[in-house]
Amino acid sequence: MSDDLQRPELKMAPGRLADDRELVLRVMPMPADVNGNGDIFGGWVMAQVDIAGSVLPFRIAKGRIATVAVNQFVFKQPVSLGDLLSFYAKVTRVGTTSVSVHVDVYAERNPENVQVVKVTEADLTYVAIDGEGRPRPLPRD
Ligand SMILES: CC(C)(COP(=O)(O)OP(=O)(O)OC[C@H]1O[C@@H](n2cnc3c(N)ncnc32)[C@H](O)[C@@H]1OP(=O)(O)O)[C@@H](O)C(=O)NCCC(=O)NCCS
Repeated sequence: MSDDLQRPELKMAPGRLADDRELVLRVMPMPADVNGNGDIFGGWVMAQVDIAGSVLPFRIAKGRIATVAVNQFVFKQPVSLGDLLSFYAKVTRVGTTSVSVHVDVYAERNPENVQVVKVTEADLTYVAIDGEGRPRPLPRD
């Protein structure tokens, strides 16, 4: 996955990227999300990635879904208070009942002289479930 957001001339994270990655969430961490080192707690970032990753599978499943797996998760750079995080998602596989997505997270920081930095990337899989919580086939229309 290219890191085109980190071109020095780029001053903010856009709404859609040329390679079909779609902006699905923007959020700014709060002081309550800080760990003992003064950086943002990794579990908070994971929760946001889970929410962001669910957006495209939810649309495809047209109904209830559950996260079945976090297949890969990499914290590439720490997240700091004041960072504005942008989450981009792309569907990587559509199965019988499941949808897999890749999520990239970029931080916009230093508003006086904006930098865009890739902080996290992950692969997750969501399953369409029925009213009893069992896997159901994805709609095909
Ligand atoms: C999601 C859940 C309903 C799936 O039930 P299951 O009986 O394990 O489902 P299956 O083994 O039939 O797999 C269902 C799909 O998930 C996929 N899957 C299962 N484990 C996977 C893994 N580790 N990685 C990627 N895909 C996986 C299967 O390949 C299958 O996809 P397909 O139908 O598109 O081929 C069940 O595991 C569950 O309820 N888990 C808890 C979900 C939850 O609470 N999530 C929130 C975490 S707190």
